Amino acid sequence: MEVVIRQNYNEMSKLAAQMVAELLNTKPNAVLGMATGSTPLGLYQELVRMYKQGQLDFSRVMTFNLDEYVGLPGNHPQSYAYFMQENFFRHVNVPAQNINVPSGTTSNYPAFCDWYEKRIAECGGIDLQILGIGSDGHIAFNEPTSSLSSRTRLKTLSKQTIDDNARFFERREDVPVYAITMGVGTILEARQLLLVASGKSKASAIAQAVEGPVTSMVTASALQLHRDATVIVDEDAASELTMREYYEFIYAAKPAAPRA
Ligand code: PGA
Repeated sequence: MEVVIRQNYNEMSKLAAQMVAELLNTKPNAVLGMATGSTPLGLYQELVRMYKQGQLDFSRVMTFNLDEYVGLPGNHPQSYAYFMQENFFRHVNVPAQNINVPSGTTSNYPAFCDWYEKRIAECGGIDLQILGIGSDGHIAFNEPTSSLSSRTRLKTLSKQTIDDNARFFERREDVPVYAITMGVGTILEARQLLLVASGKSKASAIAQAVEGPVTSMVTASALQLHRDATVIVDEDAASELTMREYYEFIYAAKPAAPRA
């Protein structure tokens, strides 16, 4: 895994956007895995800026979102479908029929989850999956103890995640208890993983994910099993990493490093 430390949130977001832009410039019909949450907002803003300046075209891009709250329809302001529309899709030219967000209101979750997996496969698999990390170490809604082979399914949110996400809802009781989420196994099949993290509240989860053992207690640690995973963190999120100098040394030497 490659770990890149940037000075602040803006620099983290810009570098992440550059990686997405590089992919789209070499593969205009790329399949992008999208994430929600506060962290990727800056990355989306940067992609929107590039699109508006004519540097990016999403007309052939296909997208798959990681997860959705169960019980929230797509027009609910706290649903992830709504989040994606407001913060990204309505500002760029991804065709509506190319956008896939898990349904939070299907009448048959197992069938929907199977269909979502099949749809990803039919589209050739995800080229680049954007990820955030929860303060409990989750990726998507794969809470501690989620199988590292898990597929898209229903998941009960952890108390920590409900507490973390309560800030978006009027009352803590309004936070849905269940979510539909891609599994860790689904995520690991993406050809490239790009995890962004910012702030002190993520420092411990990042240290465990990057430098701790691979464990279902910290599902982000599964990135260690992937051959092309990049973790971009700001100073605060990097503050508990012990190998920082080494990551910086690798990054500084990168242009000169022999290509694999
Ligand atoms: P956040 O959420 O970006 O809002 O901190 C990240 C996550 O839970 O994956």
